Amino acid sequence: MALFTVFGNPISHSLSPQIHLAFAKQAGVELNYTRSLTSVSRFRRAVAQFFREGGAGANVTVPFKAEAYELVTHVTARAKQAGAVNTFVPLGYGQLLGDNTDGIGLVRDLTQNLKQAIAQRDIVLLGAGGAARGVVGPLLAEGPRQLIIANRTLEKANAIAEVFNHRTLVAARLNDVVIPSGALVINATSASLAKQTVAVAAEQLGRAGAVYDMMYGADPTAFIQQAQQAGVGEVFDGLGMLVEQAGVAFTLWHEGAELDTQAVLGELRAQQKAR
Ligand code: ATR
Repeated sequence: MALFTVFGNPISHSLSPQIHLAFAKQAGVELNYTRSLTSVSRFRRAVAQFFREGGAGANVTVPFKAEAYELVTHVTARAKQAGAVNTFVPLGYGQLLGDNTDGIGLVRDLTQNLKQAIAQRDIVLLGAGGAARGVVGPLLAEGPRQLIIANRTLEKANAIAEVFNHRTLVAARLNDVVIPSGALVINATSASLAKQTVAVAAEQLGRAGAVYDMMYGADPTAFIQQAQQAGVGEVFDGLGMLVEQAGVAFTLWHEGAELDTQAVLGELRAQQKAR
């Protein structure tokens, strides 16, 4: 049976096996999907061993996405833009293709599941680390009126703006950011992971039409709570992005598979509520 895995640290709570097994059922294929806990020093060897032993594909999560980009022999254009890889596709003869499905996963969740416009809208992306950089290309491709990257450390936001060099892309310091009224604000900082709030003024955050946290959890994230307290009407967590990026990865491994990602998301939401 084809074997897939997800590399990460920590990894024990990863929902990827459950999501991929649900897709497999929909697509009528049989597969195993495991969780691989590894460390920075062992990551490369763990990946090489997995594919030497016949692994059919793998995902990569925190904190190995940049390292994954370094070790592949081929990359897709969107992975190159992101500077990060979250999906490995073995090409045979020890060759490995690296792709990045995070940005397209975010865009699909926003536009298809949540019916949030990106085109012609002001978008504010909080953070300028790997997670933020990974979604800039696909967001720009949707044609926002303006994409503001706001980061605690301005230099990092400037660096991303320089790399993409797009007329609608601007960088700002988180402390000084002016959020356009009705903007979609996306949290790509690692603050929620550390249960921290994001240092953006409540009167600015309150101007957002909707906020989206790329993190998710059984309870509302610190950022979602922060946005609710600031009076933002529509708040969304990143569970849908997780399911959508997995769906794109699944179709890379199983060409032509028709998936109902919303059904899988619905199941996960029901479980989340029951807990
Ligand atoms: P990731 O791969 O998850 O993006 P990263 O590359 O370490 O992780 O980047 C973390 C991002 O979260 C950075 O943009 C960081 O801001 P700095 O560049 O100023 O360090 C941001 N970040 C982390 N904690 C934050 C907090 N409490 N408030 C605001 N930004 C935060």
